[in-house]
Amino acid sequence: MSDRNRDRSGENPDRPPACLAPLPALIVDWYRENRRRLPWRETVSPYRTLISEIMLQQTRVEAVKPYFERFLATFPDIVSLSDADDDLLNKAWEGLGYYSRARNLKKCAREIVDRFGGVIPQSYSDLLSLSGIGPYTAGAIAAFAYGQPVAAVDGNVLRVTARITADSGDVLTPTVKGRLTDLVSSLVPKDAPGDFGQGLIELGALVCLPNRPPKCDVCPVRALCRGYAEGIAERLPVRGKKTERKLDRRTVLVIRSGTRTLLHKRPARGLLAGLWEFPNFSGGFSEKEALDAVRAYGLEPLRVVSLDPSRHLFTHIEWQMTGYLVLVGEPDRPLPDGFVMPETDDLLSRYAIPSAFSAYTRRLRDPLPR
Ligand code: ADE
Repeated sequence: MSDRNRDRSGENPDRPPACLAPLPALIVDWYRENRRRLPWRETVSPYRTLISEIMLQQTRVEAVKPYFERFLATFPDIVSLSDADDDLLNKAWEGLGYYSRARNLKKCAREIVDRFGGVIPQSYSDLLSLSGIGPYTAGAIAAFAYGQPVAAVDGNVLRVTARITADSGDVLTPTVKGRLTDLVSSLVPKDAPGDFGQGLIELGALVCLPNRPPKCDVCPVRALCRGYAEGIAERLPVRGKKTERKLDRRTVLVIRSGTRTLLHKRPARGLLAGLWEFPNFSGGFSEKEALDAVRAYGLEPLRVVSLDPSRHLFTHIEWQMTGYLVLVGEPDRPLPDGFVMPETDDLLSRYAIPSAFSAYTRRLRDPLPR
């Protein structure tokens, strides 16, 4: 999004096209009748909106649901979040992925404590100045929690509005995003900004579906949808090609001594910063290379078994992993710095291990090979 778009207050004095004048009321009425009962909608507060919207940024509603209340029980307010222990924070986020969101959330909470006396600000521009809060999330908090007439435009809303206006521009470009954001801003009804904003999102989730034919037969705004009238709704929105992911072949070592397993804490910066991992290496290791790596930790291999390959997609990287389970003797000297060897129960309950390793974590309770 261009700077002009980032900085805009979300309020737009331009008048929307006359043919779209009925749209806000249709969306609001439909939303009030058809909305899903979601935890962050039943009790609304700025803090609950902040947490849910950050969780929902790259994660599906169904996946967020079980985490939301649990996270709030652990970190009930801005102050507790600003003081969060990093391991506890990562553990509360484990499974949601994209952990930089959790780190930014803590940073954001600190900024709210330091700059706004612990109160989440109401103004779009103050919200936008916080770590991890972009135009969508700033708009969502302002509109959904504070009832301000501000647009909140996410991927759902871009899809819905590109279809309604039959806009065949690339919605990933700042120009088209800006154009559609301006349109939504001009339509926000002053008496129901939150229901309008969430209504557009809900329409995108339930009716105007992504990567599937939209359910135009049940759509409340079909009569004013140009994409429908022109028979092109299904082909919209147009999205330019994203850059391809870089392939990274890795070897993962699940190194176990009885029911204890070796974990390593990742560096404080970069991919999966500060999370725990099974030792892993760039490249596809032979069995001998795997055993040499185990010995380099001062551990004595007793047995090695190949594990099934697995893969994990990050935004810009794809890990293609092969793995070995290596049974080792009882360590007879201290583990190198940054390594621990917890019991399985402890490992699963206390250490945040990214889902990139779930193919290996999942099998920790399997019987060990003899
Ligand atoms: N996706 C992003 N924000 C959402 C919300 N408030 N409700 C449902 N899905 C969403």
